[in-house]
Amino acid sequence: MKPALLTKSQTFTSLARVILSRCSIAALTELISFLSTHFQHEETIMASKGFGSGAAAGISGPLESHKADHKRILDFANDQRRQALANGTELVHRNCASKIAELFVFHANEFDARFEGRL
Ligand SMILES: [Fe+2]
Repeated sequence: MKPALLTKSQTFTSLARVILSRCSIAALTELISFLSTHFQHEETIMASKGFGSGAAAGISGPLESHKADHKRILDFANDQRRQALANGTELVHRNCASKIAELFVFHANEFDARFEGRL
């Protein structure tokens, strides 16, 4: 059975593919697709189980914060892809993989870890 949340090993496996392919646009596009699908899956499960839906007036709840962090990662990755395409190069910026890794590790530790074993 597939785990509900992205595990650290899955994250690093995905990142390794990007890094090993020198952060090519093709690898980054594949990673963005994987992450988009996985994040949507996570968000659907969390919402269906009622996790993090307790927002106070004017303050977003844990689910909305979690979704915002997913979006932050995807926005960065998509921006890198757009910039590379605009520059007409096959490679995204050389610091792309390390920055995405940093965002993933932060997300796994600060967001996914809170739901581990609870969904
Ligand atoms: Fe997440």
